[in-house]
Amino acid sequence: MQKLLVTGGAGFIGSNFVRYALEHTSYSITVVDKLTYAGNRESLRGLPEDRFAFVKGDIADAALIDQLVAETDAVVHYAAESHNDNSLHDPRPFLDTNIIGTYTLIEAARRHGKRFHHISTDEVYGDLELDDPQRFTEQTPYNPSSPYSSTKAGSDLLVRAWVRSFGLQATISNCSNNYGPYQHVEKFIPRQITNVIDGIRPKLYGKGENVRDWIHADDHSSAVLTILEKGEIGQTYLIGADGERNNKDVVEQILEHMGQPRAAYDHVVDRAGHDLRYAIDSSKLRSELGWRPVFSDFGKGLEDTIAWYRDNESWWRPQKAQTEAKYQVQGQ
Ligand code: NAD
Ligand code: TYD
Repeated sequence: MQKLLVTGGAGFIGSNFVRYALEHTSYSITVVDKLTYAGNRESLRGLPEDRFAFVKGDIADAALIDQLVAETDAVVHYAAESHNDNSLHDPRPFLDTNIIGTYTLIEAARRHGKRFHHISTDEVYGDLELDDPQRFTEQTPYNPSSPYSSTKAGSDLLVRAWVRSFGLQATISNCSNNYGPYQHVEKFIPRQITNVIDGIRPKLYGKGENVRDWIHADDHSSAVLTILEKGEIGQTYLIGADGERNNKDVVEQILEHMGQPRAAYDHVVDRAGHDLRYAIDSSKLRSELGWRPVFSDFGKGLEDTIAWYRDNESWWRPQKAQTEAKYQVQGQ
């Protein structure tokens, strides 16, 4: 494999993957991205021109996708509508991109016999009780809660069916919540960091007891490269770094790192259907493919992320006011 087609490479995790893969491998990469509100060409600035190309386009555009897939060795599929809160207010784009977009890509990959890696989320499994000793494994039944997670679940099932019925050369990964640079300010951690920078109190949905299993975006990227190169066709791998924390704890850590009192946040209206807890058991990926996360210190990763948002205000500032205006209408 020499050439990768990365969908959604102008988004948060996709752009981190592109930079990580260019640095750690010899692949040439073409990104196809629609540049929705969540995509930002600036996230891919300064990459080597001899190994990187950008195409603005929709993954549901069958003619464009057919041409791009024909020219590549493998597809790594990140493009998605990715925000739960948006999916509760306007689900339609989630069906168009997550379902029809994925369908368009796997049809092209099957026609041209190309390797395909599908990026998904642990949210397809629904949620866990706070005191449940079990974590999600590859055997956990699908039980998605939101339009976002149900369309991601649907896309996973399409990929599985295309493997079985058409021999698609695909693998799937389901990862836990990512943090790191270049994440849109609508998401939990960047929203609170940029709120504090702007003198706004962080906003915690409901009681703030909900638990997310945080992983640094670079650890997600190294796991995806491992699966792309060593994964078994037809298999699903869960990606996680044992980073369970409740939202209140994360907000308090952000406030502390930013020199504010730990209690200087507000509780706001809870999310409808808010999943209580996600937790990943990534034993399969670790034991079968030998992957290990590198970012074990969440506090240090958070500090670096805070520093990145302080240093890169020009990257996030254009989205901040309209994002907060939207949340305000929702009482959040
Ligand atoms: P993001 O919203 O930051 O980026 C999505 C990117 O996809 C954007 O650049 C956007 O322009 C592009 N896009 C959207 N619709 C498109 C279309 N129709 N055609 C082409 N491009 C389109 O999302 P993210 O947080 O980087 O998530 C990337 C992937 O990782 C998604 O598949 C998501 O489900 C998965 N994932 C995310 C997390 C997380 O914590 N954010 C965790 C696990 C899995
Ligand atoms: P989010 O970043 O939207 O990711 P996901 O819904 O995929 O887990 O939210 C992470 C957690 O933070 C989730 O429990 C909802 C909560 N949250 C808040 O408490 N306040 C906020 O302002 C946001 C955006 C999210």
